[in-house]
Amino acid sequence: MNSFDSNLIDQVIESRSSCRAFLDRDIGRETVQDILSVASRAPSGSNIQPWQVYVLQGESLKSLIEKVTQAHDALNADPGLIKNFPKPYEYYPTQWKSPYIDRRRENGWGLYKLLGIEREQKDKMHQQHQKNFTFFGAPVGLMFTVDTSLEKGSLIDYGMFLQNIMLTATARGLATCPQAAWVNFSTLVMPHIGASEDETLVCGMSLGWPNEQELVNTFKTPRVGVDEFVTWLS
Ligand SMILES: Cc1cc2nc3c(=O)[nH]c(=O)nc-3n(C[C@H](O)[C@H](O)[C@H](O)COP(=O)(O)O)c2cc1C
Repeated sequence: MNSFDSNLIDQVIESRSSCRAFLDRDIGRETVQDILSVASRAPSGSNIQPWQVYVLQGESLKSLIEKVTQAHDALNADPGLIKNFPKPYEYYPTQWKSPYIDRRRENGWGLYKLLGIEREQKDKMHQQHQKNFTFFGAPVGLMFTVDTSLEKGSLIDYGMFLQNIMLTATARGLATCPQAAWVNFSTLVMPHIGASEDETLVCGMSLGWPNEQELVNTFKTPRVGVDEFVTWLS
């Protein structure tokens, strides 16, 4: 039987957080390859391994950023353009309820408060949201797709794969931000990465070296206590 220092995995899990400002410092292709290779040990139902990953660096990253930041600005100026950006799937419910909406608001307003952005400052909110589409300055952007024929079970598998990437990166001193924001611009992302008609964009992810000096990266998110989500049966 394997034996590990259990503190190690706890430390990696507890030190991961979403990074929203990266250093302008490259990551070698081998490191990205290693991270993806380790992450691919994620379990999946019947071992079908439903993940497809597109790694963007250099020109492919820069040109996607140009396309999507422009589209996001245009959409902000004319919300009617939303018809050009159908979503491949709904990440969030259309009808929110408690406690989820409360936690979502706490998270969103908490981040804006830290950054000194107030409720009526829509322009600043847009600029902050726009940073998603620059991969927050990260040197590597990852796009994840799934074959559209697969079912919800594959999204369960996908979550494990994504978390493995984030933990493997954290263990190497790197940082990540998983990003559903990109799904809103799937119609631009999918042709850009050369994905086939059979694929659906799951999400994106920024990967790079964290900028520890940036205020945004001091944002720490709470979790509800175990007693709030566990029912012990005997
Ligand atoms: C699948 C997924 C999609 C997410 N999408 C975004 C996103 O588009 N932009 C963003 O800034 N954060 C995004 N997040 C980060 C969450 O806001 C963050 O995980 C949550 O607030 C908890 O904070 P932590 O990751 O720092 O622990 C996403 C997280 C997940 C798991």
